[in-house]
Amino acid sequence: MKPLRTFRLEEYLGEWEFGARHYLTASDAQSMSVGDLLDMGSESDREGFAALPLTYVETWGSENLRDAIAGTYERVDAAHVLAFSGAQEALFWAMQELVGPGDHAVVTVPCYQSMETVTVATGAHVSALLMRREHGWALDLDELRGLLRPTTRLVAVNYPNNPTGHVPDAETFRELVALCDERGIRLFCDEVYRGIEVDQARTLPQAADLSETALSLNVASKSYGLPGLRVGWLACRDRALLERLEKRKHYTSICNPGPSEYLAAIGLRHRDRIWARNRAVITANLPLFADFFGRWADLFEWEPPLGGCVCFPRYKGAGSVDDFCRRLLQREGVVVLPASVYYSEIAEAPTDHFRVGVGRLGAEESLEAFDRCLRAG
Ligand SMILES: Cc1ncc(COP(=O)(O)O)c(C=O)c1O
Repeated sequence: MKPLRTFRLEEYLGEWEFGARHYLTASDAQSMSVGDLLDMGSESDREGFAALPLTYVETWGSENLRDAIAGTYERVDAAHVLAFSGAQEALFWAMQELVGPGDHAVVTVPCYQSMETVTVATGAHVSALLMRREHGWALDLDELRGLLRPTTRLVAVNYPNNPTGHVPDAETFRELVALCDERGIRLFCDEVYRGIEVDQARTLPQAADLSETALSLNVASKSYGLPGLRVGWLACRDRALLERLEKRKHYTSICNPGPSEYLAAIGLRHRDRIWARNRAVITANLPLFADFFGRWADLFEWEPPLGGCVCFPRYKGAGSVDDFCRRLLQREGVVVLPASVYYSEIAEAPTDHFRVGVGRLGAEESLEAFDRCLRAG
């Protein structure tokens, strides 16, 4: 492995996430307490949680968790699920397992950094499938076809997308899966924002259901709003691949915390309720954002996300978007993420954007603070 470059987004958030007055860039949906989650379950869930021994659990993930995960797919069973510590650990090992020196990979850009950085660090040659605002951040399959080579082993995408909020239509997504299958290329699909689309007709099928070799990445953190559990997973019907990944996990977390897996399983079994609640928060927030960005249309260009709870407005004002974000923080304590944290070493990622989160309660006060900052000039 080559050295991993600094994780810009996590570094930026590490500095501001916990101290700022208005965290207007959250990538996870509204969270809940352990008590609220247990209240969704039965009395025996509550008793089971209290009686849980604080032992190691299976590296694969407890049977209880893997059954609950399998229940969220149509064609994946518990044997085709491997639990990880968050989506991050899964990304870290999957990219290293899937490609190496001499291989070619394609990743969507801009992206959550580990998808690009870990892949580059494997020594593989990595091409960017650049998403462009001028094209509505669309997934361009012709462009992808043009990037593919005889050595392409991996296509890694993230839909619903962080940071753009884009979701391709189901037909285009199915074409992507078919293209990778036809060419014998492994598709890695980061689906961590799936499930809270305001227009539920936009919810995509999951890659691991559509293809025997594709990997679906998911986690309790984002659409479920339970990031503190740190429970993620890969679903893939290629069991041999998961077996290789399980051996790699022995070198990092070994296994997840049992209490986290237990609680995550409750969340997964009540996903319809949790997603409905989180979708309602987004639905209530979107008119507030539309109103705000509409009033400041000379400064910003904004589109609501098609899925997930983040989007990527364009800054049209004077100076750099970094300076603008810093001013907003210093004057009113509002955190948004400048496009520079999505810097790509393989493509010219957009620079004049910033990420906002639309999935949390309290957006009204944050937008008022944002507004005050703009009115002060
Ligand atoms: C697209 C995407 N994938 C993966 C992750 C990592 O998720 P986790 O923090 O739960 O490990 C994130 C976190 O922001 C993300 O946005």
